[in-house]
Amino acid sequence: MIKKNYPLVIAIDGPAGSGKGTVAQKIATKLNYHYLDSGAIYRVIAYAAKKENIKSESISTLIDLVADSKIKFKENNIWLNGNEVTNLIRTESISKLASKIAIHSKLRASILEYQRSFCKMPGLVAEGRDMTSVVFPNAHLKIYLNASVSERAKRRYKQLILKGYDVNLCDLTQEIDKRDSRDKEREVSPLIIVKEAYVLETDDLNENQTVDKILSLFKELQKGLITQNYQEK
Ligand code: DC
Repeated sequence: MIKKNYPLVIAIDGPAGSGKGTVAQKIATKLNYHYLDSGAIYRVIAYAAKKENIKSESISTLIDLVADSKIKFKENNIWLNGNEVTNLIRTESISKLASKIAIHSKLRASILEYQRSFCKMPGLVAEGRDMTSVVFPNAHLKIYLNASVSERAKRRYKQLILKGYDVNLCDLTQEIDKRDSRDKEREVSPLIIVKEAYVLETDDLNENQTVDKILSLFKELQKGLITQNYQEK
């Protein structure tokens, strides 16, 4: 049985386009928990770097940039130094740059405490690539959300078209594939499936079905009915 005198954490990791964002947000709303979109932090840094013409390899300049940047999340919107950047950080060029700057260990270390500061009562749903492994290694529930590259590319395509971006499915598939390799093969905090994670394959699940699955796992866990050493085929 899980005690409730400290925040409960649901950590969700998964590759680009696996649906973590929407799913994590819906779970946080249903439970009235806080929500951390860790990818958005890397995206905001990438956006700021692009604006300042800082290259992804210039690690010390990037670290200074992080120190000088004020990132704020408020009601599903994201602000950088007082300017709203919610949609500006969702372009494919920012996706790529975010993945490139995310390979630097010093940069990752510099935002670790900031990410942990989202963990407040009554609980947190955190999503990204290293939530289950590095940022919240003691999370109560760890989920790895997966889907095939083609399914993820299709989902991303629909999202971007709806937002009015001009994208090509073939290019998007290649980009996602490259981003997967970079995120999984980097030396620091790569995207991995930790041994306690519940792996959910979502090719045949819609967002609400995925949310329901995670919520029912969380309820069972809270009642002490299951442990985390379980993998769904
Ligand atoms: O989740 P996302 O697609 O918004 O993340 C953008 C990039 O940021 C992703 O390709 C790699 C990086 N990232 C990371 O390295 N660690 C995280 N916890 C979240 C994102």
